[in-house]
Amino acid sequence: MTIDPKNIDSREFYTYATSAIAPRPIAFASTIDLNGNVNLSPFSFFNFVGINPPILVFSPNRRGKDGSQKNTTENLHEVPEVVINLVDYSMVQQMSLTSCEYPKGVNEFMKAGFTEEKSLLVQPPRVKESPVQFECKVLEIKEYGTANIVVCEILMAHFAEHILDENRKIDQLKTDWVARLGGDWYARISPETLFKVPKPSTKQGIGIDKLPDFIKYSTQLSGNDLGKLGNLESLPTEEELQQFALNQDITQEERFSKAKSLLGKNLVYEAICLLLS
Ligand SMILES: Cc1cc2nc3c(=O)[nH]c(=O)nc-3n(C[C@H](O)[C@H](O)[C@H](O)COP(=O)(O)O)c2cc1C
Repeated sequence: MTIDPKNIDSREFYTYATSAIAPRPIAFASTIDLNGNVNLSPFSFFNFVGINPPILVFSPNRRGKDGSQKNTTENLHEVPEVVINLVDYSMVQQMSLTSCEYPKGVNEFMKAGFTEEKSLLVQPPRVKESPVQFECKVLEIKEYGTANIVVCEILMAHFAEHILDENRKIDQLKTDWVARLGGDWYARISPETLFKVPKPSTKQGIGIDKLPDFIKYSTQLSGNDLGKLGNLESLPTEEELQQFALNQDITQEERFSKAKSLLGKNLVYEAICLLLS
């Protein structure tokens, strides 16, 4: 199916885009207005986009029903500071409650039972329950149609002890983040769903195009299997292959099936030796 966004209703295109561009992390944004009234709202049009200085971007859109600006956008124009709190599974139901359209001036910390914690450098409070909190200043708010793209610089970052490992780095297995998909769907990033992909070789992988045809065009190996083989820095030498001298009885099918299982265990060198021996 191919869709030209200009030919369908923008809300309908939104349902396709948000189901496809998923999962998205959630910026739980705390802001204040000129009178010091606090606001707290979630935004999943959000990401970390710049390293030096550290830059976050998120996007409160205008309200669908009347085109008016959301309280968060109005507050950011009044006081260009925000705390972006991140959302883990223990907070997800309360976070969702804050997305109700409460009138300006209503403090969603109170509505949803979150605890305000004083920030060090900005005026909006942090969400105490959130395991990561970024105090930010707003650099720019750029409007495109309904979108307000808010560009923020992180001035101070807070990380809860319970997500850190012994080297004071974040242990991804301890984080339990949630992310938003399309409609009512969320993802929970838990140890059962996490896996690692080693970074490509710094010396450059040989590439799938350099694998022999009988491997490259094998019907038994998947794209993921070939991706691992293409990441090898070089093919094994004749000498290295000698050490893999095989039982001649093995069929081609058995050889590929053993290689596939080695690739499944990330034993990539062993797999290529088996395939070429
Ligand atoms: C998980 C989640 C993510 C959301 N992401 C966005 C978003 O990226 N942009 C947006 O305009 N609204 C988003 N919303 C809806 C706003 O949170 C909602 O309109 C809220 O009432 C805005 O509050 P405010 O008027 O106090 O700023 C999201 C809601 C939820 C529950």
